[in-house]
Amino acid sequence: MKKIYLNKNFPHFLHGGDYNPEQWIDTKEIWDEDMRLMRKANCNEMTVGVFSWSTLEPEEGKFDFSFLDEIIAKIGENGGKVVLATPTAAPPFWLAKKYPEILRFEKNGYAAPNLGSRRHKFCYTSEKYREKVAVMVKKLAERYAHNKIVVAWHLDNELYGDCFCDSCRKKFREFLKNKYKTVENLNKTYWAKWSSGEVSSFDDVQPPIAGTSYDALYIDWKRFTDYAKIDFLKFQSDIIKGVNKDAVITTNLMPQRDYDLFEYAKMLDFASIDIYPNWGRKSEIGEAIDSAWQYDYVRSIKNKPFMLMESAPGLVSWMPQNKLQRPGIGSLASISSIAHGSDSVGYFQFRKSRGACEQYHGAIVDHVGNENTRVFKEVASTGATLNKIDEVCGAITQSEVALYYDTENLWALDVVYAFAPHHVNYYSEQINYYGILWNNSINTDIINRESDFSKYKLIILPMAYMASEELQNKISDFVRGGGTVFATYMLGYTDERVLTHLGGFPGGKLKDVFGIWNEEIDSLYPEDVQKISYKGKLYDAKDYCEIIHLRGAKALADYNTDFYKDTPCFTVNEYGAGKAYYQAFRDTGEFKSDALECILQELNIKGCIASKHKGVSAQIRTDYENEYLFIENYSDGKAENIKLNDVYENLLTGEKVNNVSIGKFEYKVLKRKI
Ligand code: GLA
Ligand code: ZN
Repeated sequence: MKKIYLNKNFPHFLHGGDYNPEQWIDTKEIWDEDMRLMRKANCNEMTVGVFSWSTLEPEEGKFDFSFLDEIIAKIGENGGKVVLATPTAAPPFWLAKKYPEILRFEKNGYAAPNLGSRRHKFCYTSEKYREKVAVMVKKLAERYAHNKIVVAWHLDNELYGDCFCDSCRKKFREFLKNKYKTVENLNKTYWAKWSSGEVSSFDDVQPPIAGTSYDALYIDWKRFTDYAKIDFLKFQSDIIKGVNKDAVITTNLMPQRDYDLFEYAKMLDFASIDIYPNWGRKSEIGEAIDSAWQYDYVRSIKNKPFMLMESAPGLVSWMPQNKLQRPGIGSLASISSIAHGSDSVGYFQFRKSRGACEQYHGAIVDHVGNENTRVFKEVASTGATLNKIDEVCGAITQSEVALYYDTENLWALDVVYAFAPHHVNYYSEQINYYGILWNNSINTDIINRESDFSKYKLIILPMAYMASEELQNKISDFVRGGGTVFATYMLGYTDERVLTHLGGFPGGKLKDVFGIWNEEIDSLYPEDVQKISYKGKLYDAKDYCEIIHLRGAKALADYNTDFYKDTPCFTVNEYGAGKAYYQAFRDTGEFKSDALECILQELNIKGCIASKHKGVSAQIRTDYENEYLFIENYSDGKAENIKLNDVYENLLTGEKVNNVSIGKFEYKVLKRKI
């Protein structure tokens, strides 16, 4: 049996979420009531301190930790655990007022230290801010880093924003100097001879505030802004680990933001995610697929179980339209996170605020203040399920398929103007490919340029525009060794500096791996449709069609329209012991589904269940002795007669089954010995 826990001293699921009791500091009877409600909701975890700085240090140098002492002790007495946050996401007003240099310099000037504008109004590189943060974090660590009730430390909160202040400009230049050593190297990489853009000193480089003609500068800036945030996290982590080296560190990540989360993962003990799907907007299936991708991504960056830190109980308050979650969907979504590798279900927040901007945001305990609400009951029932399936905690995910998603690639495609920025859509195309795997109930890892490719049977590379020599080698070694890759249009146009490869696309070795040469790309108008023919059937191509030539590959499909009619658009090349497929166009969904399903079959990659049903997806976690099968139904009706690959035991009822039916927005958790 092999398990990996978030905290080895607490081998159980966490169920709870953000708890901000300082809002009720004048009515402490509410704290006692919260404890009763916490137990009643089957919660065992509270994330506290996230925005508590002004309560902990109401005036400079005047500290008062009594509220945290009291609340942590209370949670502990009631059988709960605490994830303790550092309060640095929201510096108190007095601090910003006294030391305005800590404020973030936005594009139009310093962020105003307004009452209520709590989020990240500070600069990640500010010396003064770090000085104040160090004092606060040190005090917290000294007080709580050995506290047994504290199972993890949550640093800051949803890191966000770029800063263009003098300190950040200076640090950016240092970052560039460190990377390029000489200004000539920088000029060459930026292709700065183009329109006389060369600089003569690193001090001349400005952040790309008002756009830039140099994509490489933009990408370096993005690399730097991640670096600054990660450095800020490390700064805090070092202080805490300096007090207790076994302290467990995390922070809540947001996969839909364009941060390179694989880089953040390097300094975290485990990864956490906040997720707020737009349930009730369109099809729940689309939201479920998008969420599942985010879970798989956050699991993959550490390659181990993660924490779902925040999700909305019932609804959010910040969307243009805040629709109630329909009964069942919240619970299903929570269990889905577990299916994809989470060892916790957390919500924002425990008790609904009485005022301020999140007054109407969903919470476990509503303004009515008791347990008699639909949302409370659903949360409590999710907690009861988690208790029953607790043995799954720590089980890992094994995947034969990986989907390549690289944030540097995203940045590059975000700024490359030539391919009609409004429909480049790297992220959504990623989700489109992922959706096929989800529909087929295939466990999937998300990998990037640094991941280990060797453990997969199939790697899918949608729009892998940026291909360094290292990545080319990895792909080549993988295929040569017997792996299968499926890449699409826009493969390998540039290297990691966003300098295009000379000698034909895809760059360098990839031409041999794929056995093709890509001569041109046709960026179509939104209303243009081309046709392609594959296995006697016609499919639509949209947005992008590349005109490619065979250099050893075999054509599996041709274009059927326009001046490139009868030229190849889907190819396969045998390379070493493996195969490399290339899809030279963007399709509308049907083609990728048919083509990929064919490849999955050929590779004998089986779904976690034996039949396919619209809106139903399954995932497996394992501890090498047992296999835990999760099946979820997001469709509009009951899914009947879902065939399993074997006989399983229902973990909630003990019943033995090899076939199940699942109601709308319901799920099953099953188990078999392996
Ligand atoms: C984010 C923040 C929380 C809260 C929620 C509301 O996730 O981290 O503090 O504001 O949004 O949805
Ligand atoms: Zn700054």
